[in-house]
Amino acid sequence: PLMKDLFGLTDLEKRLATHLHLKRVIVVPGDSDQSDWVKKEMGRAVARILKSIAQPDQVVAVAGGTTLAAVAEMMTASSSLKETTFVPARGGLGEAVELEANTIASQMATKSGGKYQLLHVPDQLSDEARETLIKEPHIQEVVELVRSARIVVHGIGDAKAMAERRKSSPQLLAHLQQEGAVGEAFGYYFAPDGRIVYYGRSIGLTLEDLAGADNVITVAGGSDKAASIAAVCPAVGGGTLITDEGAARAILPM
Ligand code: BG6
Repeated sequence: PLMKDLFGLTDLEKRLATHLHLKRVIVVPGDSDQSDWVKKEMGRAVARILKSIAQPDQVVAVAGGTTLAAVAEMMTASSSLKETTFVPARGGLGEAVELEANTIASQMATKSGGKYQLLHVPDQLSDEARETLIKEPHIQEVVELVRSARIVVHGIGDAKAMAERRKSSPQLLAHLQQEGAVGEAFGYYFAPDGRIVYYGRSIGLTLEDLAGADNVITVAGGSDKAASIAAVCPAVGGGTLITDEGAARAILPM
């Protein structure tokens, strides 16, 4: 706490919580766009929160991405997470397997000593294929588990970067640009005013499901993501944000 005050981070946290209408904000020093260890520090903060709020037999749904990969890396064995089941928030994304939510869920379980269940479905499906898959008993079972999650941990992406990472069509890229999409989470793309401009439907958590979780933990940093974070946070609904100084200073008005 003392170090934080020296950097003025406690004040930043309070101002950011008010500005983004969030219950709680944690700001780690530095800018993750500039140094990799800052992402790990955000990861460490998330790992600490997860330990402290754990309850027996809970389900934790996790998204994918490099920031969530840093969270998984920073998890340590914990008796309070032994009965936790980690699940991916949604199906795969067609991006690198190390960054898929399935991979992150299994790593978080392995590192913390918890359990996991995986969702083996591609993230971008035709309506027809999705309707068929959703009827598979095993998939149904995991989807129910995902939707029952007490805690959801997710990242925020830059809209263009995410659309490219997902190998989206030139038409979709043009649509997102035209609509001014700046941020992405759970396959939803948001404009600066929080308007959803596109939703890549999948199997797993929807934005509506988040209301049923006790804790939604958002983790995203880097000054380049300031606009993305500002657009997505209010839409996701007022939980906890773990970010860095670079993003926090860029989001707040001077
Ligand atoms: C993806 C998630 O895997 O990671 C997205 O599906 C999220 O919803 C993104 O926005 C964030 O990625 P990163 O690498 O910027 O943490």
